[in-house]
Amino acid sequence: MLELAIRAAREAGAILQNFAARGFAVTNKGRINLVTEADLASELHIKTLISSHYPAHRILAEESGLSAHDVSSSDYFWIIDPLDGTTNFSHGVPCYAVSIGVEHKGEMIAGVIYDPTRDELFAAERGAGAICNGQKIQVSEIETLERGLVVSGFPYDVRERLHEYLPAWGEFLKRAQGVRRFGAAAIDMAYVAMGRLDGFWEQGLHAWDTAAGWLLIEEAGGRVTKLDGSSFDNFTPSMLCSNGKIHDEMLEALRLVGHGQSLEKE
Ligand code: IPD
Ligand code: CA
Ligand code: CA
Repeated sequence: MLELAIRAAREAGAILQNFAARGFAVTNKGRINLVTEADLASELHIKTLISSHYPAHRILAEESGLSAHDVSSSDYFWIIDPLDGTTNFSHGVPCYAVSIGVEHKGEMIAGVIYDPTRDELFAAERGAGAICNGQKIQVSEIETLERGLVVSGFPYDVRERLHEYLPAWGEFLKRAQGVRRFGAAAIDMAYVAMGRLDGFWEQGLHAWDTAAGWLLIEEAGGRVTKLDGSSFDNFTPSMLCSNGKIHDEMLEALRLVGHGQSLEKE
């Protein structure tokens, strides 16, 4: 399954690069939420490939939702973002990825993130560690948030809920070495897994954004929770990832701006 996910991600990445070179149609799913021809072609390719090898497996993909097999009793569940970073892609900014995760009985067992612009392929298998282009990767050794470079993003309801998202930014801008917003959650997570970045937080994410990155970070020795420190799962919108060492400091910053468990319960 990991090999098939790797093949699917590479082939989908080639499709994206083809569209990037020759142009593509863009439509609006929402006011600032775009979908391009490339998203759709990438998704169709990945789904067709998976179904041809594992016809009974369930599939969730961003642009088409649950496949016809969502009623199947298969324990295997593929979770796909065919193009993470669509806004970057549609503006010609080379920061986007394909993300494919596989769950078995609710537990992530394989995850692949492929950045076709840098030809970087990140992959993880439960219990077997994480790699980038075949080399083992690990989260950073940074011990303090003060020395950490952290990253976040905004969901597409940012205009309506800006007041909920900005306080955490303020706190991290005061406490971290730097804060970034690259516009592709899968890239953010892959970079935490390989130690380029030290932490990532975001609200309003979907399973297709988080599935592969979650396993990648855990297999690279990092920690993944919700923003309040409780256990993460793919169907929760709140995610905090880190190298583990700065996790508690990040939780404390989030608690101060209202994301702590005790505050949420009040
Ligand atoms: C988006 C990107 C972005 C994040 C948004 C996502 P999309 O995914 O990952 O960085 O901030 O929350 O929805 O729409 O480009 O696949
Ligand atoms: Ca996404
Ligand atoms: Ca997407």
